[in-house]
This record gives sequence, structure tokens and C-alpha cells, in this order.
Amino acid sequence: MHKFVIEGGEKLIGDVRISGSKNEVLPILAATLLSEEKSVIRNVPNLSDVRLMLEILEELGCRTTFENHTVTVTPYDLNRIVASYDLVSQMRASFCVLGPLLSSRKRAEVSLPGGCVIGVRPVDLHLRGIKALGVNYELDHGYVKADGRNMRGTRIFLGGNSGSTVTGTANILMAAVMAKGTTFIEQAAPEPEVEGLANMLNSMGAKISGAGSHRIEIQGVDSLRGADYDVQPDRMETATYAIAAAITKGDLTLRNSKYENLIAFWEKLKETGTQVDQVADDAVRIQGCEIQPTDIVTFSYPGFPTDAQAPMIALLATANGISIVTDTIYPDRFMHVAELIRMGADIRKQNNSAIIHGVKNLSGAQVMGADLRATAALVLAGLTAKGTTEVHRIYHLDRGYEQMEQKLAQVGANIQRAEYNPSRRKSDRNAA
Ligand code: EPZ
Repeated sequence: MHKFVIEGGEKLIGDVRISGSKNEVLPILAATLLSEEKSVIRNVPNLSDVRLMLEILEELGCRTTFENHTVTVTPYDLNRIVASYDLVSQMRASFCVLGPLLSSRKRAEVSLPGGCVIGVRPVDLHLRGIKALGVNYELDHGYVKADGRNMRGTRIFLGGNSGSTVTGTANILMAAVMAKGTTFIEQAAPEPEVEGLANMLNSMGAKISGAGSHRIEIQGVDSLRGADYDVQPDRMETATYAIAAAITKGDLTLRNSKYENLIAFWEKLKETGTQVDQVADDAVRIQGCEIQPTDIVTFSYPGFPTDAQAPMIALLATANGISIVTDTIYPDRFMHVAELIRMGADIRKQNNSAIIHGVKNLSGAQVMGADLRATAALVLAGLTAKGTTEVHRIYHLDRGYEQMEQKLAQVGANIQRAEYNPSRRKSDRNAA
């Protein structure tokens, strides 16, 4: 096991290059199942989630390579239609192979993904979508076993009680691209990651319009060419390093970033008094200051992203006043609060909100990550805390942040990745 050891107090100054987007590349990789030709995907971040998706593609009869941030995928055995529990259960996004398998191979047996610490994470909207397209499926021993031989274009309402679904929209988009006729997806997720997927599918020969809005139209085609696609910059990595600049009162320029994809986040960061300047088409400069409080409510895009909620709470824990942060997408996504309190933060959780009384200084402590963004929040807190912070279970970070300790150290952070052997007693207790 590894941990980060951070000596807080250093201002971060310099340039950080943002990597390709985890949340865009995962459905993009699933989409390579839609063609029998070789696909090339560029600017792919070297993440454990990416490597897991490549394992799933290999289980589904594809040859893959991954070198210098470039992935190639060549399907060779189209009879492989089973995505197994031991792989799919590790990462919800792998459920996105369902749509492409139904489109290209007309059959699929995909394990249900199960939940995780941030919520139940149901897939009822995914299943509503494939059923509307004429797919016959059954839930059998934890698997979705589906027959897509009679798929027809149709109008699908994909909205749920928490708004739209990102991976659900991606799955149904990929299920519909070769369905005979025209499909309309109403209350589609308008996230940039969905728009990127649609752009790649169109470059493969699909006929999709409206991606990036709440209504997407898909005219079914007979087949798709292989892809050659450049992954967009990671929005959440951008937000995380922006907060790293703010929380250390530093001055960072985030290279290879897309300002226009985080408008709600920038507005809230500016409300804390942080200076945010777009200094080039693909660069944003962040200059930290005394942090002022602000109130945040997460929403589907273009609202404030739930994935930036935990990192933002770390910042507001040091603000000059009281902030309230509410998560309408994942009401239980507050595992980071207890750990921040151990670092001296003054936070009270109330239903799906955190009430944060800013403190002058956080203090270094041993803390434990619970999910990707909660662990990132603890690293951010450690960068400003007085003394030493040890962040345990950083395997969560390796899912979604490429070379995080190197990127932080290059701009002045005192951070090391170190080995440690968790005591049996602690791990038993935590498992209880
Ligand atoms: C995507 O997850 C992201 N992951 C998540 O990022 C992100 O938090 C989430 O969108 C919300 O923005 C990827 O894109 C790989 P959802 P996704 O389906 O698509 C409910 C990270 O940290 N819902 O959009 O799986 C659900 O319960 C990760 O990078 C249903 O009710 O999330 C939730 O409340 C974490 N039924 C809301 O919709 C369904 O069938 C959004 O879920 C599907 C979803």
C-alpha cells in the first residue's frame, strides 16, 4: 500500500499541464467496440481506471496497446459478449460497454456495476433506455443479459430524480447509433464528456446532432469506421489544481485546460476572492489570496459539478467565514468531512449539506481517502495544513489523477509517495 506524506505551508507557483479526461476517455474506449476496424485514441491519461477498461476490452475480444498516452484497440473476436463481475464491479463506467455490444454484436452479458461510497449508483435509466430501443433483457444472477437484434429508433426520456445521467446518456447514445430509424434522447446529459463522445462517434460515421444539449438526435447507420480521436483535457483535474493554487495562496497556470467547460466552478472560485484569468485558449492562471466564504449547490452540467464538491470544501475549510455546500446529485458524498475535521476543520453535516466554519489553520494529521475526489480533498488540505499530513489509500487517486505527486512537487509542494503496511487491526476495524 502507498500513502502521501505532505509537509504543508508551501505556496505552489508555476505551470501544471492538465492530462486527458478520465470521464471522457472511459466511454470513448467503450465506443471502440462499435467498429471492427482499429481505433487510435490520443492524449489518454495513464490511470488505473484506463488500464482496467483496457482489460475489459481484451476480455471482450480486442487487442489493445497503450504507449506514450496513445491507445490502440483492434477488435478480433466478435463472439465475446461477456463483461465479467470481477472487472465491471471495480468501476461503474465499465457498464458503458453494454450499449456498444448491443449495437455491434447484438448481444451482451454485462455485470451490474453495484454501488460505491458516494451512493447507490443505480442503472435503472440505462435499462429504461435499452428497453425503449427494443432490447429484450433479463437480470440474471447480477448480470444484464440482453438481446439487441430488434433494436429500432425511438424517443427516450432519460431524466431521473437527480436530473440526467452522464454514463446513461453515453450508453444509450452508443446503443442507438446503429439502430434502424431515428432516436431522440430527451433530458440527455449535456456534459462536455458526452459531447466529446458524440464528436468521436460522428468521426466514425455516426449521424448524431444535439450532443451537449438536453436533446440528442441519432439517425441509425449500418456500420462505423475505426476512430482516431484526441481526448479533451480533464475538467476535474483542472478544478483540483485550481484549488491547489487557491488553498496555498500560490500562483499556478494550468496548461492544456478548457476554461469554457467549468464556468460554474470558476464563478464560485472567484466568489472566494481567488483571481482567475484565462491567459490563452488553453490556459488559465489562478492566483490565491485570503479565502472568503461562499455557498454552493451542485447540479448537472452546466451547474456546479459534484466532482468538485469535496475539493471545494477543503478550500472553504480555511475561509474567513461560514459556507454551506449542498450536493443534490450524491447526498451522501461527504466521506471527506470526518477526515477534514481530524485536521482541525469545523464542519457540520446536515442532510445533503455541509456547514463549514472556516478556521485560520488546518493541522497536519494521518487521514484516509474514501473515494477519488474525497482523497484529492485531503491532499489539498495537507498542502496548507501546519505540519505533516499522511494521506492513506491513495490508490483512489491513482484512478483519476495522473502523476499527482510529481505535478504538485514540480510547482513547489513538499510531497512524497511512501510505502506503508496497514496494521491488520486497523483494516479489520475499518472493514467492520
Ligand atoms: C458520472 O458518473 C461521472 N463518472 C461521475 O464522476 C460524476 O460524479 C457523475 O457523472 C455526476 O456528474 C463518469 O463520467 C465516468 P450519473 P455517472 O449516472 O454517469 C442517478 C468521478 O469522481 N442515476 O450521472 O455514473 C445517480 O444516482 C466520478 O470522476 C439514476 O438514478 O453518474 C446520481 O444521483 C464519480 N439512475 C445521478 O443520477 C441511473 O440509471 C447522476 O448519476 C443513473 C444515474
